[in-house]
Amino acid sequence: METESQLNSEIELEKLNVNHSQELYDLTEANRNYLSEWLPWLDQIKTSRDTKTFIESTVKVASSGGAPNYAVLYKGAICGVVGFHEINKQHRIGSIGYWLGEVFTGKGVMTAAVAKLLTVGFVQFDLNKIEIRCAEGNLRSRAIPERLGFTYEATLRQCEWLYSEYVNHAIYSMLKSEHLT
Ligand SMILES: CC(C)(COP(=O)(O)OP(=O)(O)OC[C@H]1O[C@@H](n2cnc3c(N)ncnc32)[C@H](O)[C@@H]1OP(=O)(O)O)[C@@H](O)C(=O)NCCC(=O)NCCS
Repeated sequence: METESQLNSEIELEKLNVNHSQELYDLTEANRNYLSEWLPWLDQIKTSRDTKTFIESTVKVASSGGAPNYAVLYKGAICGVVGFHEINKQHRIGSIGYWLGEVFTGKGVMTAAVAKLLTVGFVQFDLNKIEIRCAEGNLRSRAIPERLGFTYEATLRQCEWLYSEYVNHAIYSMLKSEHLT
């Protein structure tokens, strides 16, 4: 198991831009089955053009001061994505989403990437509260906010249509006052 400081030096968050399109699409394609267990959007990504369109929309939002999304680089290669689904500026709340290619799991990469994103959210965006919503049965995803010291708030019923069924969401949050910088 790598130490936290080793991991931190091997992981970078790079703001998504269109130059990531092909590499990110290839990672998505290679992990289509793996990701579709918990992510609802795989059917919308059929070609690298679809990944490019997604990236263009996140670039547009981020360039007007909205929610940023990042390619997670592990030893220089894209291994996944982490970012804010949305940022509510009035209430200073952000909601984080993430995924990894399967071969990059089990190393602590996403826990470290989310820890970096918390600093972006609380320091750069001055958020008061950051949420992570996970499908109730997605225990590996739930382990990330649990490992980072988030508070479990509640489980909301039938929040998401996942191809063939509705799934409940477990909601976790961290407040700015609880974040150790
Ligand atoms: C959710 C997801 C990113 C979690 O991946 P993960 O590899 O379990 O998470 P991390 O990268 O933080 O790694 C944690 C694992 O590495 C291990 N690990 C090794 N070194 C570590 C370190 N230094 N720090 C923390 N964990 C470490 C942990 O023990 C844990 O493994 P375990 O579950 O076998 O105990 C991944 O399962 C995924 O992409 N799933 C599909 C998409 C998805 O569900 N997205 C979330 C939607 S809400």
